[in-house]
Amino acid sequence: MLSRTPPMGWNSWNTFGSRINEQLIRDMADFFVKEGLKDAGYEYIIIDDCWALPRRVDGRLVPDPEKFPSGMKALSDYIHSKGLKFGMYSCAGTRTCAGQPGSYDYEYTDAETFAEWGVDYLKYDYCYLPTTADGKLCYKRMGMALRATGREILFSACNWGENDCGKWMRSVGAHMWRSTGDIVDNWNSIKSLTMQQLPKINEGAMGSFNDMDMLVCGMYGKGNAALGGCTDEEYKTHFTIWALLNSPLIIGCDVRNMSEETRKILLDKDVIAINQDPECRQPYLASSSQHDPENQKLVFIKPMAENEYAIGFFNFTDEKSSVQLNLCDVGLAASSGYSFKLYDVWAKEDAGVFKDWIAPTLEKHACVLYRARLVKD
Ligand code: GLA
Repeated sequence: MLSRTPPMGWNSWNTFGSRINEQLIRDMADFFVKEGLKDAGYEYIIIDDCWALPRRVDGRLVPDPEKFPSGMKALSDYIHSKGLKFGMYSCAGTRTCAGQPGSYDYEYTDAETFAEWGVDYLKYDYCYLPTTADGKLCYKRMGMALRATGREILFSACNWGENDCGKWMRSVGAHMWRSTGDIVDNWNSIKSLTMQQLPKINEGAMGSFNDMDMLVCGMYGKGNAALGGCTDEEYKTHFTIWALLNSPLIIGCDVRNMSEETRKILLDKDVIAINQDPECRQPYLASSSQHDPENQKLVFIKPMAENEYAIGFFNFTDEKSSVQLNLCDVGLAASSGYSFKLYDVWAKEDAGVFKDWIAPTLEKHACVLYRARLVKD
């Protein structure tokens, strides 16, 4: 089964935008292996927009020969030779968001082309849809066209959460779908995407995931989607939320120049394991809005395999603050005779046994992530 757990990889857009070429993509594949990203579970190398010539040739999409002189099949062979998978990009409209040819009315031809090139993942955007077109039908068409090729191609829909897409994207064959608009590299964007996600959390399920957009961890205000940058603490919080909410983990920074702190965040095996938990249950928001009407102090709890739980505490306020969870609110009745034994996932240490409430004090924009197990009092 494709993408039983959230897909993991790297995409060119956040850092490179239109400045892509085959050497860069090959480098990324090399660095995936060299820097341990592949071993940590990242597997897709994805070329986003701006890879094609501005016009089709004989009805087919053609890679820009200046950027990709060896062609896509050779590039895909190279990526496969590293034990990785190859992702590409097109759009449901007549043009891509950057104005290149889109797949509208060419869905079956383009799916065949991608399959011939050995593509394993297609990101499918939503710009330039004719006003008369039915967006849902466009995704149905590409979903069916990909399946018709006989090749396993992960279908990554990108209509930014429009048309209530979480209610139907799974049914048209998508394995993941953007549930919100584009991310940029700053704290407000991370906060806003998280808030927009709250009513949609339960639309994801095993094999089909809400995509909160590509990660900005490690961009530090540089690159195409850079708009100010974040602190390492904010990147850590960003990664933790995306991991805990079962979003795909698609890196957006330049992995050739990762800082030590970025490497630590993106390669944390324990946090990744929570994202990749085999039960794939969505967490729910467990904190009480009674004391926090604006949802600035968020607590999510996610039941996991082997009767464990992941519990994340997030301080979205702009000052140091305690974030509280009453354990009776998540089902731990006072009469149960059980407590939660906590392990602090980032600090890599036991964090005690709790019966009534947990209330860590967190710096602004910081988080703490626990793995929890029920123990007899
Ligand atoms: C849209 C998508 C982005 C990116 C660009 C490319 O904005 O949401 O993720 O693919 O198009 O033009």
